[in-house]
Amino acid sequence: MIEILRKRRSIRRYQAKAIDSQALEVMKEALLRSPSSRGINPWAFIFVDQKELLLQLSRAKEQGAQFIKDAALAVVVCADETKSDVWVEDCSIAAIVAQLAAESLGLGSCWSQIRERAHSKEKSAEKYIQELLHLPGNLRVLSIIAIGIPAESKAPIAKEQLDYTKIQYNRY
Ligand SMILES: Cc1cc2nc3c(=O)[nH]c(=O)nc-3n(C[C@H](O)[C@H](O)[C@H](O)COP(=O)(O)O)c2cc1C
Repeated sequence: MIEILRKRRSIRRYQAKAIDSQALEVMKEALLRSPSSRGINPWAFIFVDQKELLLQLSRAKEQGAQFIKDAALAVVVCADETKSDVWVEDCSIAAIVAQLAAESLGLGSCWSQIRERAHSKEKSAEKYIQELLHLPGNLRVLSIIAIGIPAESKAPIAKEQLDYTKIQYNRY
């Protein structure tokens, strides 16, 4: 696990190749193994691999989503807010599980934030996606995890760059 954590970086450029079916199965299993509060598992994961839909997802917000159009897969991380008051935490955990699973499979990924982001002056990015993907109103959207075979490589962050002052013992 520490090797995966050391290597993982946000990858926003992808090769124009599909993810093989075995890797896809691992991604699904990993997501469904995510822990959630009280084991309620309020999430829904929408796997988007259609080019046109990926393009439309990449337009969910003005900045920070463009790379989705070139991804082989976008996992739209949603949850039923009526099932859990901590759906944001549950979705966040699932999203990072997806990123770490992708890394373990040699895939690149990047998080695109949707919750609390705007599509336009009139519409939230979340509403835009709810309409685009025909999501029922109770399904909230946290983020989109774009995944694909990397077309860029980034150096791991050196251990010396980590800010160990963030960690305090016993009292702050
Ligand atoms: C909660 C969260 C929201 C993020 N939102 C976006 C986003 O909307 N667009 C984007 O390009 N990257 C987004 N990122 C990726 C971060 O920019 C990235 O993880 C951070 O700069 C550290 O770089 P690294 O992932 O390569 O270590 C997000 C990451 C997190 C954890």
